[in-house]
Amino acid sequence: MSETAAPRQEENPLEQGLALRRTPDPCALVIFGASGDLTHKKLMPALYALAVRSLLPPRFAIVGVARTEGDDGTFREDMQAAVRQHARDPFRQEIWDELVEQLHYVSTDFADAGGENAVHDLLGRLDDERQLGGNRVFYLAVPPGAFPTIVEALGRRRDERGWTRLIVEKPFGHDLESARTLTATLLEYFQEEEIFRIDHYLGKETVQNMLALRFANGIFEPIWNRQFIDHVQITVAEAIGIEGRAGYYEQAGAVRDIFQNHLLQLLALTAMEPPIDFTAESVRNEKVKVLRALHTPGPRSVVRGQYGRGFVEGEEVAAYREEEGVAQDSMTETYVAAKLYVDNWRWADTPFYVRMGKRLARRETTIAIQFKRAPHPPFEETAAEGLRPNVLLVHVQPDEGVSLAIGAKVPGQGLTIRTVHMDFLYGGAFRTGMPEAYERLILDTMLGDSTLFTRADEVEEQWLLVDAIVAGWQRDRPAFPNYPAGSWGPPSADDLLHRDGRSWRRH
Ligand code: BG6
Repeated sequence: MSETAAPRQEENPLEQGLALRRTPDPCALVIFGASGDLTHKKLMPALYALAVRSLLPPRFAIVGVARTEGDDGTFREDMQAAVRQHARDPFRQEIWDELVEQLHYVSTDFADAGGENAVHDLLGRLDDERQLGGNRVFYLAVPPGAFPTIVEALGRRRDERGWTRLIVEKPFGHDLESARTLTATLLEYFQEEEIFRIDHYLGKETVQNMLALRFANGIFEPIWNRQFIDHVQITVAEAIGIEGRAGYYEQAGAVRDIFQNHLLQLLALTAMEPPIDFTAESVRNEKVKVLRALHTPGPRSVVRGQYGRGFVEGEEVAAYREEEGVAQDSMTETYVAAKLYVDNWRWADTPFYVRMGKRLARRETTIAIQFKRAPHPPFEETAAEGLRPNVLLVHVQPDEGVSLAIGAKVPGQGLTIRTVHMDFLYGGAFRTGMPEAYERLILDTMLGDSTLFTRADEVEEQWLLVDAIVAGWQRDRPAFPNYPAGSWGPPSADDLLHRDGRSWRRH
Protein backbone atom coordinates (compact mmCIF):
# COMPACT_ATOMS: atom_id res chain seq x y z
CA MET A 1 0.00 0.00 0.00
CA SER A 2 1.30 3.45 -0.79
CA GLU A 3 1.04 6.32 1.62
CA THR A 4 -0.18 9.66 0.40
CA ALA A 5 1.87 12.71 1.17
CA ALA A 6 -0.20 15.84 1.68
CA PRO A 7 0.66 18.58 -0.82
CA ARG A 8 2.56 21.45 0.70
CA GLN A 9 0.14 24.11 1.86
CA GLU A 10 1.60 26.89 -0.22
CA GLU A 11 1.36 24.92 -3.48
CA ASN A 12 -1.65 25.64 -5.60
CA PRO A 13 -2.45 22.29 -7.26
CA LEU A 14 -3.27 24.05 -10.53
CA GLU A 15 0.21 25.45 -10.59
CA GLN A 16 1.87 22.16 -9.96
CA GLY A 17 1.78 21.04 -13.56
CA LEU A 18 2.02 17.40 -12.57
CA ALA A 19 -0.60 17.74 -9.90
CA LEU A 20 -3.21 15.47 -8.39
CA ARG A 21 -1.74 12.12 -9.22
CA ARG A 22 -1.09 9.03 -7.20
CA THR A 23 1.99 9.17 -5.00
CA PRO A 24 4.50 6.44 -5.82
CA ASP A 25 5.29 3.62 -3.41
CA PRO A 26 8.34 4.00 -1.20
CA CYS A 27 11.43 3.07 -3.23
CA ALA A 28 15.12 3.63 -3.90
CA LEU A 29 16.21 5.27 -7.14
CA VAL A 30 19.70 4.16 -8.12
CA ILE A 31 21.40 6.27 -10.79
CA PHE A 32 24.30 4.68 -12.63
CA GLY A 33 26.34 7.44 -14.22
CA ALA A 34 25.70 9.83 -11.34
CA SER A 35 28.68 12.05 -12.13
CA GLY A 36 27.61 12.53 -15.74
CA ASP A 37 26.03 15.40 -17.60
CA LEU A 38 22.55 13.93 -17.69
CA THR A 39 22.39 13.56 -13.91
CA HIS A 40 23.51 17.16 -13.42
CA LYS A 41 21.45 18.82 -16.11
CA LYS A 42 18.28 16.74 -16.15
CA LEU A 43 17.84 14.04 -13.51
CA MET A 44 18.70 15.90 -10.32
CA PRO A 45 16.85 19.07 -11.37
CA ALA A 46 13.83 16.88 -12.20
CA LEU A 47 13.97 15.19 -8.79
CA TYR A 48 14.18 18.58 -7.13
CA ALA A 49 11.13 19.78 -9.11
CA LEU A 50 9.23 16.68 -7.97
CA ALA A 51 10.28 17.40 -4.38
CA VAL A 52 9.01 20.98 -4.66
CA ARG A 53 5.62 19.61 -5.69
CA SER A 54 5.55 16.85 -3.04
CA LEU A 55 5.41 14.20 -5.75
CA LEU A 56 8.26 12.02 -4.54
CA PRO A 57 7.44 8.89 -2.55
CA PRO A 58 6.89 9.46 1.15
CA ARG A 59 9.85 7.21 1.97
CA PHE A 60 12.59 7.51 -0.61
CA ALA A 61 16.32 7.28 -1.27
CA ILE A 62 18.49 8.34 -4.18
CA VAL A 63 21.72 6.40 -4.64
CA GLY A 64 24.28 7.82 -7.06
CA VAL A 65 26.74 5.32 -8.52
CA ALA A 66 29.74 6.37 -10.61
CA ARG A 67 33.45 5.82 -11.03
CA THR A 68 34.37 9.29 -9.78
CA GLU A 69 35.91 9.23 -6.30
CA GLY A 70 33.59 10.62 -3.67
CA ASP A 71 31.24 10.02 -0.76
CA ASP A 72 27.79 11.13 0.38
CA GLY A 73 29.19 14.54 1.33
CA THR A 74 30.80 15.36 -2.02
CA PHE A 75 27.82 13.95 -3.93
CA ARG A 76 25.41 16.10 -1.96
CA GLU A 77 27.44 19.22 -2.65
CA ASP A 78 27.73 18.38 -6.29
CA MET A 79 23.97 17.78 -6.60
CA GLN A 80 23.16 21.00 -4.80
CA ALA A 81 25.27 22.88 -7.34
CA ALA A 82 23.44 21.05 -10.16
CA VAL A 83 20.05 22.03 -8.74
CA ARG A 84 21.09 25.64 -8.25
CA GLN A 85 22.31 25.82 -11.82
CA HIS A 86 19.77 23.80 -13.75
CA ALA A 87 16.50 23.50 -11.83
CA ARG A 88 13.45 25.28 -13.23
CA ASP A 89 12.36 26.39 -9.75
CA PRO A 90 14.27 28.83 -7.58
CA PHE A 91 16.42 27.15 -4.94
CA ARG A 92 14.56 26.72 -1.63
CA GLN A 93 16.62 25.75 1.35
CA GLU A 94 13.81 23.96 3.21
CA ILE A 95 13.09 21.71 0.23
CA TRP A 96 16.76 20.96 -0.23
CA ASP A 97 17.25 20.18 3.45
CA GLU A 98 14.65 17.43 3.19
CA LEU A 99 15.90 16.06 -0.11
CA VAL A 100 19.58 16.04 0.77
CA GLU A 101 19.03 13.52 3.56
CA GLN A 102 17.93 11.02 0.92
CA LEU A 103 21.06 11.30 -1.22
CA HIS A 104 23.79 8.66 -1.06
CA TYR A 105 26.80 7.81 -3.16
CA VAL A 106 28.79 4.74 -4.07
CA SER A 107 32.03 5.14 -5.99
CA THR A 108 32.66 2.06 -8.17
CA ASP A 109 33.03 1.09 -11.78
CA PHE A 110 30.71 -1.83 -11.15
CA ALA A 111 32.86 -4.20 -13.16
CA ASP A 112 34.21 -5.67 -9.94
CA ALA A 113 32.18 -7.58 -7.40
CA GLY A 114 33.30 -5.15 -4.67
CA GLY A 115 31.29 -2.34 -6.23
CA GLU A 116 28.29 -4.55 -6.71
CA ASN A 117 28.39 -5.58 -3.07
CA ALA A 118 28.70 -2.00 -1.89
CA VAL A 119 25.54 -0.97 -3.77
CA HIS A 120 23.68 -4.08 -2.65
CA ASP A 121 24.62 -3.58 1.00
CA LEU A 122 23.70 0.08 0.97
CA LEU A 123 20.29 -0.71 -0.52
CA GLY A 124 19.70 -3.36 2.14
CA ARG A 125 20.54 -0.86 4.85
CA LEU A 126 18.29 1.81 3.37
CA ASP A 127 15.47 -0.74 3.12
CA ASP A 128 15.74 -1.43 6.83
CA GLU A 129 16.12 2.18 7.91
CA ARG A 130 13.39 3.62 5.69
CA GLN A 131 11.18 0.64 4.96
CA LEU A 132 11.49 0.89 1.22
CA GLY A 133 10.09 -2.60 0.83
CA GLY A 134 12.79 -3.68 -1.62
CA ASN A 135 11.29 -1.43 -4.33
CA ARG A 136 13.91 -0.24 -6.81
CA VAL A 137 14.25 1.98 -9.85
CA PHE A 138 17.61 1.49 -11.55
CA TYR A 139 18.48 4.29 -13.95
CA LEU A 140 21.13 3.41 -16.54
CA ALA A 141 22.53 6.82 -17.47
CA VAL A 142 25.81 5.30 -18.68
CA PRO A 143 27.31 4.69 -22.14
CA PRO A 144 25.75 1.61 -23.78
CA GLY A 145 29.01 -0.36 -23.47
CA ALA A 146 28.46 -0.47 -19.71
CA PHE A 147 24.85 -1.76 -19.89
CA PRO A 148 25.46 -5.54 -19.97
CA THR A 149 27.77 -5.62 -16.93
CA ILE A 150 25.37 -3.59 -14.84
CA VAL A 151 22.24 -5.39 -16.03
CA GLU A 152 23.74 -8.80 -15.31
CA ALA A 153 24.94 -7.76 -11.88
CA LEU A 154 21.52 -6.34 -11.01
CA GLY A 155 19.69 -9.30 -12.45
CA ARG A 156 21.72 -11.82 -10.48
CA ARG A 157 20.89 -10.10 -7.24
CA ARG A 158 17.29 -9.16 -7.71
CA ASP A 159 15.52 -8.51 -4.46
CA GLU A 160 12.67 -10.93 -4.15
CA ARG A 161 10.65 -8.41 -2.20
CA GLY A 162 9.08 -5.38 -3.85
CA TRP A 163 9.19 -4.32 -7.49
CA THR A 164 12.14 -3.55 -9.76
CA ARG A 165 12.13 -1.19 -12.73
CA LEU A 166 14.94 -0.38 -15.08
CA ILE A 167 15.21 2.90 -16.97
CA VAL A 168 17.43 2.59 -20.01
CA GLU A 169 18.73 5.81 -21.56
CA LYS A 170 19.30 6.17 -25.25
CA PRO A 171 21.03 5.21 -27.44
CA PHE A 172 19.26 1.87 -27.34
CA GLY A 173 21.76 0.04 -29.53
CA HIS A 174 23.57 1.26 -32.61
CA ASP A 175 21.57 -0.69 -35.17
CA LEU A 176 18.90 -3.37 -35.27
CA GLU A 177 21.24 -6.18 -34.34
CA SER A 178 22.78 -4.47 -31.32
CA ALA A 179 19.33 -3.33 -30.15
CA ARG A 180 18.11 -6.94 -30.30
CA THR A 181 21.16 -8.14 -28.39
CA LEU A 182 20.57 -5.50 -25.75
CA THR A 183 16.90 -6.47 -25.44
CA ALA A 184 17.89 -10.12 -25.12
CA THR A 185 20.32 -9.26 -22.29
CA LEU A 186 17.64 -7.25 -20.52
CA LEU A 187 15.04 -9.97 -20.95
CA GLU A 188 17.32 -12.54 -19.40
CA TYR A 189 16.81 -10.89 -16.04
CA PHE A 190 13.83 -8.56 -16.38
CA GLN A 191 10.31 -8.66 -17.82
CA GLU A 192 9.39 -6.29 -20.65
CA GLU A 193 6.98 -4.50 -18.24
CA GLU A 194 9.95 -3.74 -15.99
CA ILE A 195 11.98 -2.10 -18.76
CA PHE A 196 11.48 1.62 -19.34
CA ARG A 197 13.26 2.76 -22.53
CA ILE A 198 13.54 6.53 -22.46
CA ASP A 199 12.72 8.74 -25.38
CA HIS A 200 12.51 12.00 -23.52
CA TYR A 201 10.43 13.63 -26.28
CA LEU A 202 7.50 11.52 -25.10
CA GLY A 203 7.76 13.24 -21.72
CA LYS A 204 7.26 16.68 -23.26
CA GLU A 205 3.84 18.16 -22.55
CA THR A 206 3.37 19.34 -26.11
CA VAL A 207 4.13 15.91 -27.51
CA GLN A 208 1.51 14.34 -25.26
CA ASN A 209 -0.82 17.12 -26.29
CA MET A 210 -0.79 15.70 -29.79
CA LEU A 211 -2.89 12.85 -28.40
CA ALA A 212 -5.21 15.26 -26.60
CA LEU A 213 -5.55 17.47 -29.64
CA ARG A 214 -6.38 14.60 -31.94
CA PHE A 215 -8.50 12.41 -29.73
CA ALA A 216 -10.19 14.78 -27.28
CA ASN A 217 -11.60 16.99 -30.04
CA GLY A 218 -14.29 15.81 -32.38
CA ILE A 219 -13.34 18.17 -35.19
CA PHE A 220 -9.89 17.02 -36.21
CA GLU A 221 -10.10 13.28 -36.61
CA PRO A 222 -12.62 13.27 -39.51
CA ILE A 223 -10.23 15.36 -41.60
CA TRP A 224 -6.99 13.80 -40.33
CA ASN A 225 -6.28 11.76 -43.44
CA ARG A 226 -5.15 11.73 -47.08
CA GLN A 227 -8.41 13.21 -48.30
CA PHE A 228 -7.96 16.50 -46.49
CA ILE A 229 -4.27 16.67 -45.65
CA ASP A 230 -1.85 17.59 -48.41
CA HIS A 231 1.29 16.74 -46.46
CA VAL A 232 2.91 16.91 -43.03
CA GLN A 233 6.18 18.64 -42.10
CA ILE A 234 8.08 17.77 -38.94
CA THR A 235 11.05 19.90 -37.94
CA VAL A 236 13.47 19.28 -35.08
CA ALA A 237 15.90 22.16 -35.40
CA GLU A 238 18.62 22.95 -32.90
CA ALA A 239 20.84 26.01 -32.72
CA ILE A 240 23.40 24.23 -30.54
CA GLY A 241 26.26 22.16 -31.90
CA ILE A 242 27.47 18.90 -30.40
CA GLU A 243 28.48 20.46 -27.07
CA GLY A 244 31.63 18.47 -26.45
CA ARG A 245 29.99 15.09 -27.20
CA ALA A 246 32.17 14.26 -30.23
CA GLY A 247 32.95 10.76 -28.98
CA TYR A 248 29.28 9.86 -29.05
CA TYR A 249 28.14 12.02 -31.95
CA GLU A 250 30.81 10.91 -34.42
CA GLN A 251 29.38 7.40 -34.09
CA ALA A 252 25.74 8.42 -33.99
CA GLY A 253 25.19 11.33 -36.38
CA ALA A 254 21.81 13.01 -36.70
CA VAL A 255 20.14 9.86 -38.01
CA ARG A 256 20.81 7.89 -34.82
CA ASP A 257 20.74 10.83 -32.43
CA ILE A 258 17.37 12.33 -33.37
CA PHE A 259 15.79 10.63 -36.39
CA GLN A 260 15.79 7.08 -35.03
CA ASN A 261 14.00 8.05 -31.84
CA HIS A 262 12.53 11.53 -31.27
CA LEU A 263 11.61 12.22 -34.86
CA LEU A 264 10.02 8.84 -35.58
CA GLN A 265 8.06 9.02 -32.34
CA LEU A 266 6.67 12.43 -33.30
CA LEU A 267 5.67 10.98 -36.65
CA ALA A 268 4.07 7.92 -35.04
CA LEU A 269 1.95 10.07 -32.70
CA THR A 270 0.86 12.25 -35.61
CA ALA A 271 -0.08 9.33 -37.86
CA MET A 272 -1.40 6.67 -35.45
CA GLU A 273 -4.98 5.43 -35.30
CA PRO A 274 -7.03 6.27 -32.21
CA PRO A 275 -6.13 3.74 -29.49
CA ILE A 276 -9.03 1.98 -27.78
CA ASP A 277 -7.84 3.35 -24.45
CA PHE A 278 -4.80 5.09 -23.02
CA THR A 279 -3.09 2.13 -21.50
CA ALA A 280 0.57 1.59 -22.33
CA GLU A 281 -0.15 -1.42 -24.53
CA SER A 282 -2.96 0.18 -26.53
CA VAL A 283 -1.02 3.35 -27.28
CA ARG A 284 2.15 1.48 -28.17
CA ASN A 285 0.27 -1.03 -30.32
CA GLU A 286 -1.00 1.82 -32.49
CA LYS A 287 2.38 3.53 -32.72
CA VAL A 288 4.16 0.38 -33.76
CA LYS A 289 1.67 -0.13 -36.61
CA VAL A 290 2.69 3.25 -38.03
CA LEU A 291 6.37 2.43 -37.72
CA ARG A 292 5.75 -0.85 -39.49
CA ALA A 293 3.88 0.89 -42.28
CA LEU A 294 6.74 3.28 -43.00
CA HIS A 295 8.01 2.83 -46.49
CA THR A 296 11.82 2.71 -46.79
CA PRO A 297 12.76 5.92 -48.61
CA GLY A 298 14.93 5.67 -51.72
CA PRO A 299 18.24 7.58 -51.90
CA ARG A 300 16.62 10.53 -53.67
CA SER A 301 14.22 10.93 -50.76
CA VAL A 302 16.86 11.37 -48.08
CA VAL A 303 19.24 14.33 -47.77
CA ARG A 304 22.11 14.54 -45.34
CA GLY A 305 24.17 17.52 -44.38
CA GLN A 306 27.04 18.66 -42.21
CA TYR A 307 27.53 22.20 -40.99
CA GLY A 308 30.42 24.41 -41.91
CA ARG A 309 31.41 27.63 -40.17
CA GLY A 310 28.80 30.29 -39.78
CA PHE A 311 26.88 32.58 -37.47
CA VAL A 312 24.26 31.30 -35.06
CA GLU A 313 22.20 33.89 -33.23
CA GLY A 314 24.82 36.53 -33.99
CA GLU A 315 27.83 34.52 -32.85
CA GLU A 316 30.49 33.05 -35.09
CA VAL A 317 30.76 29.30 -34.62
CA ALA A 318 33.17 26.63 -35.84
CA ALA A 319 32.46 24.02 -38.50
CA TYR A 320 31.56 20.51 -37.34
CA ARG A 321 34.94 19.23 -38.53
CA GLU A 322 36.64 21.85 -36.35
CA GLU A 323 34.91 20.70 -33.16
CA GLU A 324 37.16 19.05 -30.61
CA GLY A 325 37.35 15.30 -31.08
CA VAL A 326 35.85 15.34 -34.59
CA ALA A 327 37.92 13.92 -37.48
CA GLN A 328 39.01 16.54 -40.02
CA ASP A 329 37.46 14.53 -42.81
CA SER A 330 34.47 13.34 -40.79
CA MET A 331 31.55 12.12 -42.87
CA THR A 332 29.15 12.20 -39.92
CA GLU A 333 25.90 13.96 -40.77
CA THR A 334 24.60 16.73 -38.54
CA TYR A 335 21.45 17.20 -40.61
CA VAL A 336 18.93 14.85 -42.20
CA ALA A 337 15.84 15.58 -44.25
CA ALA A 338 13.62 12.89 -45.70
CA LYS A 339 10.35 12.28 -47.45
CA LEU A 340 8.55 9.41 -45.79
CA TYR A 341 5.33 7.59 -46.58
CA VAL A 342 3.07 5.69 -44.23
CA ASP A 343 1.65 2.91 -46.35
CA ASN A 344 -1.86 2.47 -45.03
CA TRP A 345 -5.42 3.51 -45.90
CA ARG A 346 -5.33 6.72 -43.93
CA TRP A 347 -2.08 8.07 -45.34
CA ALA A 348 -1.30 6.44 -48.70
CA ASP A 349 0.44 8.99 -51.00
CA THR A 350 0.59 11.67 -48.31
CA PRO A 351 4.21 12.73 -47.81
CA PHE A 352 5.64 13.30 -44.38
CA TYR A 353 8.60 15.63 -44.88
CA VAL A 354 10.91 15.54 -41.89
CA ARG A 355 14.11 17.42 -41.13
CA MET A 356 16.40 17.70 -38.16
CA GLY A 357 19.77 19.25 -37.62
CA LYS A 358 22.32 20.90 -35.40
CA ARG A 359 23.54 24.49 -35.78
CA LEU A 360 20.45 25.58 -37.63
CA ALA A 361 19.13 29.13 -37.46
CA ARG A 362 17.28 28.58 -34.21
CA ARG A 363 15.80 26.02 -31.86
CA GLU A 364 12.42 24.96 -33.09
CA THR A 365 10.46 21.72 -32.98
CA THR A 366 7.18 21.83 -34.88
CA ILE A 367 4.68 19.52 -36.49
CA ALA A 368 2.85 21.21 -39.34
CA ILE A 369 -0.26 19.61 -40.78
CA GLN A 370 -0.83 21.25 -44.11
CA PHE A 371 -4.38 20.85 -45.40
CA LYS A 372 -5.41 20.83 -49.05
CA ARG A 373 -6.59 24.03 -50.66
CA ALA A 374 -10.28 24.81 -50.64
CA PRO A 375 -11.67 23.01 -53.69
CA HIS A 376 -13.35 25.99 -55.29
CA PRO A 377 -12.74 29.44 -53.84
CA PRO A 378 -15.52 31.60 -55.26
CA PHE A 379 -13.41 34.77 -55.18
CA GLU A 380 -11.48 36.52 -57.87
CA GLU A 381 -7.94 35.20 -58.06
CA THR A 382 -6.39 38.50 -56.99
CA ALA A 383 -8.59 38.62 -53.88
CA ALA A 384 -6.96 35.54 -52.45
CA GLU A 385 -3.35 36.20 -53.43
CA GLY A 386 -2.24 36.44 -49.81
CA LEU A 387 -4.03 33.24 -48.87
CA ARG A 388 -2.18 30.06 -48.06
CA PRO A 389 -3.75 26.66 -47.41
CA ASN A 390 -4.80 25.96 -43.82
CA VAL A 391 -2.03 24.73 -41.57
CA LEU A 392 -2.38 23.33 -38.09
CA LEU A 393 0.94 24.01 -36.45
CA VAL A 394 1.93 22.25 -33.24
CA HIS A 395 4.73 24.14 -31.53
CA VAL A 396 6.48 21.44 -29.54
CA GLN A 397 9.14 23.92 -28.39
CA PRO A 398 9.81 26.72 -27.69
CA ASP A 399 6.68 28.96 -27.40
CA GLU A 400 4.68 25.81 -26.72
CA GLY A 401 1.21 25.86 -28.21
CA VAL A 402 -0.90 25.23 -31.28
CA SER A 403 -1.81 27.60 -34.05
CA LEU A 404 -4.24 27.30 -36.93
CA ALA A 405 -3.65 29.30 -40.09
CA ILE A 406 -6.93 30.37 -41.67
CA GLY A 407 -8.01 32.81 -44.38
CA ALA A 408 -9.77 35.97 -43.23
CA LYS A 409 -11.13 39.03 -44.93
CA VAL A 410 -8.94 42.09 -44.66
CA PRO A 411 -11.06 44.89 -43.15
CA GLY A 412 -12.11 47.59 -45.60
CA GLN A 413 -13.76 47.88 -48.93
CA GLY A 414 -13.88 45.04 -51.40
CA LEU A 415 -12.90 41.48 -50.69
CA THR A 416 -9.29 40.75 -50.01
CA ILE A 417 -8.35 37.62 -48.14
CA ARG A 418 -5.23 36.97 -46.16
CA THR A 419 -3.88 34.28 -43.89
CA VAL A 420 -4.19 34.93 -40.13
CA HIS A 421 -3.46 32.72 -37.11
CA MET A 422 -5.63 31.45 -34.30
CA ASP A 423 -3.22 30.76 -31.47
CA PHE A 424 -3.30 28.73 -28.29
CA LEU A 425 -0.25 29.37 -26.12
CA TYR A 426 0.40 27.21 -23.07
CA GLY A 427 1.82 30.15 -21.18
CA GLY A 428 -1.40 32.14 -21.65
CA ALA A 429 -3.98 29.39 -21.22
CA PHE A 430 -2.56 27.67 -18.15
CA ARG A 431 -0.88 29.80 -15.55
CA THR A 432 1.76 27.23 -14.94
CA GLY A 433 5.37 26.54 -15.82
CA MET A 434 5.92 23.62 -18.14
CA PRO A 435 7.25 20.53 -16.37
CA GLU A 436 10.46 19.13 -17.79
CA ALA A 437 10.13 15.84 -19.65
CA TYR A 438 12.31 14.01 -17.12
CA GLU A 439 10.03 14.93 -14.22
CA ARG A 440 7.13 13.17 -15.86
CA LEU A 441 9.19 10.19 -16.96
CA ILE A 442 10.84 9.53 -13.60
CA LEU A 443 7.49 9.86 -11.86
CA ASP A 444 5.78 7.53 -14.33
CA THR A 445 8.48 4.91 -13.80
CA MET A 446 7.98 5.05 -10.06
CA LEU A 447 4.24 4.66 -10.68
CA GLY A 448 4.84 1.76 -13.06
CA ASP A 449 3.23 3.47 -16.07
CA SER A 450 5.15 2.76 -19.27
CA THR A 451 2.82 4.54 -21.74
CA LEU A 452 5.43 7.21 -22.44
CA PHE A 453 8.29 4.77 -22.93
CA THR A 454 9.19 2.82 -26.06
CA ARG A 455 8.61 -0.90 -26.31
CA ALA A 456 11.15 -3.32 -27.80
CA ASP A 457 9.19 -3.77 -31.04
CA GLU A 458 8.95 0.01 -31.61
CA VAL A 459 12.68 0.43 -31.16
CA GLU A 460 13.34 -2.43 -33.57
CA GLU A 461 11.07 -0.98 -36.25
CA GLN A 462 12.86 2.35 -35.85
CA TRP A 463 16.23 0.69 -36.34
CA LEU A 464 15.03 -1.26 -39.35
CA LEU A 465 14.31 1.99 -41.15
CA VAL A 466 17.54 3.64 -40.03
CA ASP A 467 19.65 0.64 -41.03
CA ALA A 468 18.13 0.77 -44.53
CA ILE A 469 18.86 4.49 -44.83
CA VAL A 470 22.41 4.13 -43.57
CA ALA A 471 23.05 1.20 -45.91
CA GLY A 472 22.06 3.45 -48.82
CA TRP A 473 24.65 5.98 -47.69
CA GLN A 474 27.60 3.60 -47.99
CA ARG A 475 27.72 4.15 -51.72
CA ASP A 476 28.32 7.89 -52.01
CA ARG A 477 30.30 10.58 -50.23
CA PRO A 478 28.53 13.94 -50.23
CA ALA A 479 30.69 17.06 -50.34
CA PHE A 480 30.65 18.02 -46.65
CA PRO A 481 30.27 20.59 -45.22
CA ASN A 482 27.23 21.52 -47.26
CA TYR A 483 25.39 24.06 -45.10
CA PRO A 484 26.67 27.00 -43.11
CA ALA A 485 25.94 27.05 -39.39
CA GLY A 486 22.98 29.34 -38.78
CA SER A 487 21.16 28.45 -42.01
CA TRP A 488 18.20 26.10 -42.51
CA GLY A 489 20.24 23.25 -43.96
CA PRO A 490 21.64 22.25 -47.35
CA PRO A 491 20.02 23.46 -50.60
CA SER A 492 19.33 19.84 -51.56
CA ALA A 493 16.82 19.71 -48.70
CA ASP A 494 14.87 22.50 -50.41
CA ASP A 495 15.03 20.63 -53.72
CA LEU A 496 13.49 17.60 -52.01
CA LEU A 497 10.25 19.57 -51.66
CA HIS A 498 10.55 21.76 -54.74
CA ARG A 499 10.54 18.63 -56.88
CA ASP A 500 7.05 17.95 -55.50
CA GLY A 501 5.94 21.55 -56.05
CA ARG A 502 6.11 22.27 -52.30
CA SER A 503 8.45 24.07 -49.96
CA TRP A 504 9.47 24.00 -46.30
CA ARG A 505 7.41 26.17 -44.04
CA ARG A 506 8.81 29.71 -43.88
CA HIS A 507 10.21 30.73 -40.55
C1 BG6 B 1 19.06 14.29 -27.18
C2 BG6 B 1 20.15 14.32 -28.21
O1 BG6 B 1 18.39 13.06 -27.19
O2 BG6 B 1 18.12 15.31 -27.48
C3 BG6 B 1 20.82 15.67 -28.25
O3 BG6 B 1 21.12 13.33 -27.89
C4 BG6 B 1 19.79 16.75 -28.46
O4 BG6 B 1 21.79 15.73 -29.29
C5 BG6 B 1 18.65 16.62 -27.45
O5 BG6 B 1 20.42 18.02 -28.32
C6 BG6 B 1 17.52 17.59 -27.75
O6 BG6 B 1 16.60 17.57 -26.70
P1 BG6 B 1 15.67 18.83 -26.39
O7 BG6 B 1 14.80 18.35 -25.29
O8 BG6 B 1 16.58 19.95 -26.02
O9 BG6 B 1 14.94 19.12 -27.66
